[in-house]
Amino acid sequence: MSFEEMWRDLAPVGRSAQSGGYFRQPFTAAERECHAWFVEQATSRGLDVQTDRAGNTVAWWGTPPTHAGTGAVLTGSHLDSVLDGGGYDGPLGVVSALAAVDALRERGFSPGRPIGVGVFVEEEGSRFGLACLGSRLATGAIGWEQAAALCDPDGVRFDEAVAGAGLASVPAGLRWDAILDRIGCFVELHVEQGRDLVDRDAAIGVASRIWPHGRYRFDFAGEANHAGTTRMEDRHDPMLTYAMTALAANKQARLAGARATFGRIEVGPNGTNAVPSSVRAWLDARADSTERLDAMVDTVGRMASERARRDGTTVAVTAESVSGAVEFPSDLAGSIVEAGGGRWPVIPTMAGHDAGILAAAGVPTAMLFVRNPTGVSHSPAEHAEMADCLAGVEALARTLERLAS
Ligand code: GLV
Ligand code: MN
Ligand code: MN
Repeated sequence: MSFEEMWRDLAPVGRSAQSGGYFRQPFTAAERECHAWFVEQATSRGLDVQTDRAGNTVAWWGTPPTHAGTGAVLTGSHLDSVLDGGGYDGPLGVVSALAAVDALRERGFSPGRPIGVGVFVEEEGSRFGLACLGSRLATGAIGWEQAAALCDPDGVRFDEAVAGAGLASVPAGLRWDAILDRIGCFVELHVEQGRDLVDRDAAIGVASRIWPHGRYRFDFAGEANHAGTTRMEDRHDPMLTYAMTALAANKQARLAGARATFGRIEVGPNGTNAVPSSVRAWLDARADSTERLDAMVDTVGRMASERARRDGTTVAVTAESVSGAVEFPSDLAGSIVEAGGGRWPVIPTMAGHDAGILAAAGVPTAMLFVRNPTGVSHSPAEHAEMADCLAGVEALARTLERLAS
């Protein structure tokens, strides 16, 4: 099946008729359908499919790595999406990997080391809150007990969702603790999530680094009261404290050349005619250095506290997850650029990826980016032209050929 046919297969799965965006949250019917599709595609190619207890899956071309120093080459990405996301973030890396395997086989290439096509679960953290949950579990960055207790917005625990998907009863064929040192490198192909490649007039890029980033929960508390009878000067309204904090975060990010976003809030009791008693808001913050990231988040937290004093409210800040800067090994990136004839620019990314988690765990890791004409991502408008997707498949095939020879 060609790339175009595979892409057409996946296109309707989990797509909203209203927005055209995707809702492929982990262990929902749509995401499981994508996963089952992947297993079917891998099996039809004669790949050896292994799944771990969390649902991370690898399809091996060649014998799965059996001993330290095998130097297996892992590629792939994820199939889950953000809420109302684009179709490319994640699936492009998975479908391109299958197509790259096909291309190499057609050329008669015989890998000197196993090539694994991997799918990590819950990369976006859109259901259980923690981004790259699957790869964090795979690398031991988070333990099973801690992950199991994470809850989705309806109170469903991660281990319950896993069991609900029938995975708890699947023997864990994939043991990361046993194979991590058998993986020589990981290469993730991804749609670019900015306009760097457009500006450089390049279809393909190679990653240099990932900005440090984190998710911080802001709990604002005040006093619920009547929206009509409570005089404005008598209120303790946490919405005001939140609103000022969102403006402050935006300003601080601009000043620091960084990023700060409040994209998710929960209001209690969430009634039109009541001053709220609580606002829970999540700040996504990113900067080009850990020092700048920490300084920005500290400043926003301090400004929120000062405003809370004036509003007669309170605010508590909790860092839910923080990922340090990732520098991808320049020799690996250089070798990939060489495989592309020296034409692919090496660019940083401000987005988080499973590749960052594997790199932090000591796996030599690289990323390929495919041009996104508008740069829009985490949105139904996310896009890549078919010609660029096919260039991505060719770039990945050349990369795998070089690394698995
Ligand atoms: C994932 O795409 C992220 O950058 O949050
Ligand atoms: Mn994403
Ligand atoms: Mn992604």
